[in-house]
Amino acid sequence: MKNDYNFSAEDFGEDYRLITTAETEEDTDRIDSENSLRPETLEEYIGQEKAKESLKISIEAAKLRDESLDHILLYGPPGLGKTTLSAIIANEMGVNLRITSGPAIEKQGDLAALLSNLQKGDVLFIDEIHRLNRNIEEILYPAMEDYALDIIIGSGPAARSIRIPLEHFTLIGATTRAGQLSAPLRDRFGVIHRLELYTDEELKKIVERSASILGIPTTEEGALEIARRSRGTPRIANRLLKRVRDWAQVRGEGIIDKKTADKSLNMLEIDALGLDNTDRRMLLSIIKTFNGGPVGLETLGAVIGEETVTIEDVYEPYLMQIGFLARTPRGRCVTKAAYDHLGCTYNESGAGHQQLSMEDADL
Ligand SMILES: Nc1ncnc2c1ncn2[C@@H]1O[C@H](COP(=O)(O)OP(=O)(O)O)[C@@H](O)[C@H]1O
Ligand SMILES: [Mg+2]
Repeated sequence: MKNDYNFSAEDFGEDYRLITTAETEEDTDRIDSENSLRPETLEEYIGQEKAKESLKISIEAAKLRDESLDHILLYGPPGLGKTTLSAIIANEMGVNLRITSGPAIEKQGDLAALLSNLQKGDVLFIDEIHRLNRNIEEILYPAMEDYALDIIIGSGPAARSIRIPLEHFTLIGATTRAGQLSAPLRDRFGVIHRLELYTDEELKKIVERSASILGIPTTEEGALEIARRSRGTPRIANRLLKRVRDWAQVRGEGIIDKKTADKSLNMLEIDALGLDNTDRRMLLSIIKTFNGGPVGLETLGAVIGEETVTIEDVYEPYLMQIGFLARTPRGRCVTKAAYDHLGCTYNESGAGHQQLSMEDADL
């Protein structure tokens, strides 16, 4: 779709999705960069009240006792603030933060080196911890439990194991898929927090905060409009804000009001609920090809040409949250609300979609 402004979503390349929750180059927001949009204290971190309240208490208690914090597992869909929260925890504790990720650790020795370089109280952040190799994971068990490294020296009958003590540190693991973590690893976390999608009100505050850092004036309605289309995800809210800002500065009056936000987001083909073309294509294909479902995840992936992991991590959390998609043991089903939103006629007696019973719902 071309328009008066001469660029459209397609100009960013076929695979480009403005609503992707994955971190893209344009979001790059280094923890140490000067005008970072990342909040640095719990006070500035908006939403996630449950996790925040409980972390506040743990941090204060650990400080009082002059101990390191318990190991923490943060899980939830991408872009909700797991990395940000980990940096905040280290900051609030006044300790160093070391950052690595599951796939980046290739050998047991890599992890052993990281661990033995930690100072008392330091936070080691392992992103995508579910992708840690199982044999590397074993290094973590004694490290987390006893603050020790068990190293095997020599080989064959002469091999012996020696134990090297470590400083008391805090491991923070982040994952989009807590279910893929092995039980022994999961059990070694003292604290597990699930991050939730944000409400429109919370996202509006995030947009307002980011807009003031970026120095772009917004009206309340303008910020709320961006929030509504951000799929409950701060990373998307910040990205949409930057796009709307460009538009407001080039074509608009330099201020983000409702009209500006509306116009520029419509132009980018993000609809009023934050759905983009790929979401609509997926929902429509379930409606048209599978009569509303149920359809298995694999089949769906093949039909729309997306990886099942992407469907599960990127599209589904939000579509389920707004009640457009239901997961049942027999597959995915589109709900009446989605039919209505897409302007399709919902046929109560359609072969595919019998009324969902509570038993079917995967709660
Ligand atoms: N609670 C929050 N308040 C304000 N901004 C946030 C919040 N959570 C996340 N952000 C913003 O969203 C972006 C993505 O967050 P990040 O921590 O990288 O997500 P994750 O690690 O869960 O994928 C960050 O750059 C940050 O600016
Ligand atoms: Mg992250």
